[in-house]
Amino acid sequence: MTRFLLLAILILLSGPIANGQGPEGYNYDEAKVGTYTLPDLLVNTKGKPVKTKADWRNWRAELLKLFAENVYGQTPAKSVKLRFQTTSVDESALNGLAVRKQVSIFFVDYPQLPPIDVLIYFPKASTKPVPVFLGLNFCGNHCVTAEADIPLSTRWMMGENSDVSNNNKATEKARGMQVRRWPIDMIVKRGYALATAYYGDIEPDYPQGWHTGIRSVLGDTTKANNWGAIGAWAWGMSRILDYLQTDPAIDAKRVISIGHSRIGKAAVWAGAQDERFAAVIANESGEGGAALARRYYGETVERLNTSFPHWFAPRYKAYNKRVADLPVDQHELLALVAPRPLYVASADGDQWSDPKGEFLGALHTEPVYQLYGKTGLGTTVFPAVNQPVGQTVRYHDRTGKHDVTDYDWEQYLRFADELVR
Ligand code: GCU
Repeated sequence: MTRFLLLAILILLSGPIANGQGPEGYNYDEAKVGTYTLPDLLVNTKGKPVKTKADWRNWRAELLKLFAENVYGQTPAKSVKLRFQTTSVDESALNGLAVRKQVSIFFVDYPQLPPIDVLIYFPKASTKPVPVFLGLNFCGNHCVTAEADIPLSTRWMMGENSDVSNNNKATEKARGMQVRRWPIDMIVKRGYALATAYYGDIEPDYPQGWHTGIRSVLGDTTKANNWGAIGAWAWGMSRILDYLQTDPAIDAKRVISIGHSRIGKAAVWAGAQDERFAAVIANESGEGGAALARRYYGETVERLNTSFPHWFAPRYKAYNKRVADLPVDQHELLALVAPRPLYVASADGDQWSDPKGEFLGALHTEPVYQLYGKTGLGTTVFPAVNQPVGQTVRYHDRTGKHDVTDYDWEQYLRFADELVR
């Protein structure tokens, strides 16, 4: 029997559309979800059952390749020479609550590339190395804090005439614009550091953006398995982790990969590939993130590939109209985080990301956590709003819109306190 036959999830088919594709590329009608069969996580492509941790380690390596070949593209194996330059240290940031450091990561062999500018807040009170949340930001380091001396990013910004940018350049108005999503005070008061960098430092987020990012020097644009922007952002997170490993104020064994939305997709792919990440948090990562691809709800693979042709491997587009033929589904991506702690979060006002599909993605990682003697989510019941569930794998469906809120951070801090510290 193939692994596709072993795990059949049958959902009542009351509409004409099955297996993921509607003409508009999205669906908000649960009745139209249709039937789908997920690849069995514990049966390899040769139909062999995966029974032990050793079997899983082998199968895990195969799964990573399948995701690289078919979804995110192949992350270049070449190691890149980095130079870390500390550009500023403020011993008394955030009114004395934090030490703030800015570090630029230069690519020695590619001087034409801009550095990744990393902004780190450490809890001032701490006397020993601290765990750290590492997450890329959407609009430049100047936008996650109101501190006026953070330089405005000079990189390409989304929007020609928006609040955050003018002719694709950051504006003063953008300063502090996303402080709400980054409750740095709350994070450092709990004894964690926060490290962030603008995702556009690694690759500006538009179809031609790769010309000025890391993908202009690594990878091969003629190949169907060439890496996409999400792969590049994930790679960039690992380079920041390279730096964090050298910083004595950081507990390098406790670096948590966190991301929202498209950056959440990258945060999971980073944590899946790079086992130095101690845990992964996917906030409303949706299609191409935690949400099952085969579940026809919210955004579809076709819509994702059409709106954002640069995010994934070219080959992913071949599945636009035949999602059921993908050799993997997203529960298998999430399972690559195992046995490390994983948090998947949704918002009920963000049906585009498919909360139920994200929940099911988390749920179906269970067999791998069990191989390690751990309980993953430990429930099959979709929880009520604002009711976090789970053990080593956690999930919540927050009320409200597509966003990162204090409520989300409170859960992530508790999760880190209980499972990462
Ligand atoms: C779009 C996209 C999503 C993505 C989101 C975001 O809505 O369709 O897949 O997660 O942008 O990054 O905010």
